Amino acid sequence: MARAKGSRSEGADLEFFARCASGFEQVLAGELKGLRMRRVRPLRGGVAFFGTLEDGYRACLWLRSATRVQLVLARVGATDADELYRAVKAYAWERQVRRGATIAVDAHGENDELRNTKFTALKVKDALCDRLREQVGWRPDVDPHDPDLSVNVALHREKATLYLNLSGASLHRRGYRADGVQTEAPLKETLAAGLLLAAGWPDLAREGGVLVDPMCGSGTLAIEGALMAAGIAPGLLRERWGFEGWQGHDQALWDRVREAAEAGGAAEHCAALILASDLDAGAISIARDNAERAGVARLVRFSVDDAARLARHLRGRRIAQAPGGLLVANPPYGQRLLSKDELPKVNAALRAAVEALPAGWSTALITPDGGVDTALGMAPDELIACYNGPIKAWVRIYRHGGGERRSCEVVSLAGVRRSVPVADASSEQYAARLRKVARESVRWARRNQVSCVRVYDADLPDYALSVDLYLSDDASGSHVVVEERRRPGSVDELRATHRFADAVALTGAIMDVPSEHVVSRPWQAEADRRPAGTPARRLVPAYEDGCRFEVDLEGKPDTGLPLALRGVREQVGALSKRARYLGLFAASAATAVHAARGGARRTTTVCAYPDRIEWAERALAENGFAGAAHACVCEDVGGWVSERRKAGSSFDVIACTPPAWLPAPRPGASDFELRRDHVDLIRQVAALLARGGTLVFACEDKGFKLDEGALLKAGLTVEDAGARTLAHGFERRANEHHCYLVRRA
Ligand SMILES: C[S@@+](CC[C@H](N)C(=O)[O-])C[C@H]1O[C@@H](n2cnc3c(N)ncnc32)[C@H](O)[C@@H]1O
Repeated sequence: MARAKGSRSEGADLEFFARCASGFEQVLAGELKGLRMRRVRPLRGGVAFFGTLEDGYRACLWLRSATRVQLVLARVGATDADELYRAVKAYAWERQVRRGATIAVDAHGENDELRNTKFTALKVKDALCDRLREQVGWRPDVDPHDPDLSVNVALHREKATLYLNLSGASLHRRGYRADGVQTEAPLKETLAAGLLLAAGWPDLAREGGVLVDPMCGSGTLAIEGALMAAGIAPGLLRERWGFEGWQGHDQALWDRVREAAEAGGAAEHCAALILASDLDAGAISIARDNAERAGVARLVRFSVDDAARLARHLRGRRIAQAPGGLLVANPPYGQRLLSKDELPKVNAALRAAVEALPAGWSTALITPDGGVDTALGMAPDELIACYNGPIKAWVRIYRHGGGERRSCEVVSLAGVRRSVPVADASSEQYAARLRKVARESVRWARRNQVSCVRVYDADLPDYALSVDLYLSDDASGSHVVVEERRRPGSVDELRATHRFADAVALTGAIMDVPSEHVVSRPWQAEADRRPAGTPARRLVPAYEDGCRFEVDLEGKPDTGLPLALRGVREQVGALSKRARYLGLFAASAATAVHAARGGARRTTTVCAYPDRIEWAERALAENGFAGAAHACVCEDVGGWVSERRKAGSSFDVIACTPPAWLPAPRPGASDFELRRDHVDLIRQVAALLARGGTLVFACEDKGFKLDEGALLKAGLTVEDAGARTLAHGFERRANEHHCYLVRRA
């Protein structure tokens, strides 16, 4: 049975739930306490509180970080669809829905029986409409887009809570943005307000502090800050509310609540100073219009400028005498705005802005980029995990100057002294280690006429990353790829983010590689590396034993020239004099060039991935091995090998470098699993060997164990070439590297 709450009364104790972006529950609870609501209880995704109807109206009008204010109508049993229908129908909807009002019902949450939120919402809507038709003889129409009354259902285990959406459309729609006139990636007003509240702007504003947003875009943070400073209710410009089609709505009471708010705050009586600037003049013009509509234009000094030049806007008595200030920013993330390569520039501008702040001012940023702490040389005092649209981001708050600035003094390999800001003091160890091992590897590379080499390979457990250097003749043309291998479980996420970002900055500085030539691949970001449909490429030349390759530093899963297989390529080159060479699987593409250079008469490269084949063709042609003698075949390796066996083809040298796993090539066939299927693969491939020929079988897999016995039984001999083909820089990974020379007995 439904346990109904009071439907309407100015003085009655009503239960409400205000929703907010996850992460901001404490901030919203603080707002509700400030509005003197009772029994304020932060929960996940919002805050429960009690109060009168007037309190509910005040919450709608005054809450800044809430996205919605709901009135709790009832909690009902919802073990299955029938129980939910009966319980909702037993509820007195005629006391809630005004005759003639349109409705909408939405639901979230699921249980064992009610797994589809659309179905749950439909059941509730049916029960509500059936109840009204039976009790008062009319059925409301459904308007999903702009209903007069909207009912929200939250399902949790066997219970459903029924809410009336008092506020209506999301409260971030304040009404100060013009339809259709928009900057890119504006911050939601509720999120901007949440950041300002978390950073303590209202208290600072009251004391006469200064707010600065040097990357203000459409001005959201500045305008929300001004509304707070002037004590203006954020909902005053809204024209539609969720309670308008509600039977319990009290227009006279609402009018009084509104009038009280209108009489309250005003920009004229506010002493706060707010500075907002942006590089983009178009954005500033939109921001000015928004501030005008919000009624706070006189509080905000807008200008078109680079954040890096903030210092010149912070001159004057007003700033010097201010009791404190707060810099806020929502910089471009390198996702919706700008590309990742431009992030160092944005971070450098932010650093210059923060350095320009008078002593003791605070900073609050919203960004997903952990590298910003490194760029600022500060660790945040407070972090709030949140979502900015679909992007997982963090509000990072650095209070009162952010403490001591951290930096690492390094001497680069070229002997240049540099001071590199870092977020974690222990990153000095990484700098010292990298400098030591990189110097030796660079010497090795030059001695061996190799332009690409691994210079650091998880030497320190706290800095479990690899650094691959792609040298060019002058250092400013060199590139490095810094890839995080794993995150130690014992280290918290923030610390791990800091260490990786520090390592990225330090690597560029020590290797004398400019920041735009440093490719960073944080752990878990593989999916981000090449978003579907936008294949980012960063092509640079690489040289190895007199061969020239083009590598893609953004490539997946590797650059196209796997550095770990360098020794295998050398081995193949040494065996290939006058040979007919066959290379199988993608990673062996560069090996064909080494085979040809080693004197192979013919080369054939087979791989199922068209991009690898295209790359192999280019690499062969670029090294002067084009034409019929050098074939590249885009086919499934297993199918191609069995065809060639039937045709009686034979090769003197075969390189076979399979991955650990491959999907089934066609429906009905099974996947390829290296550990399970390698004997079969080697037997089939070895059947293509000419008399006296050699199969070079190599893989990179820690747990791999060759079944030598089975190969012997199959009439094959095996020579372990793992140690002699281990690539320079990969010594720590010797247990991952396997290479065998297989011959017919
Ligand atoms: C994500 S948007 C800010 C959105 C803003 N919070 C809003 O609600 O509209 C980032 C802004 O930073 C600006 N920007 C990027 N680099 C800048 C720099 N060096 N100086 C000033 N503005 C910069 C861009 O022009 C863009 O407007």
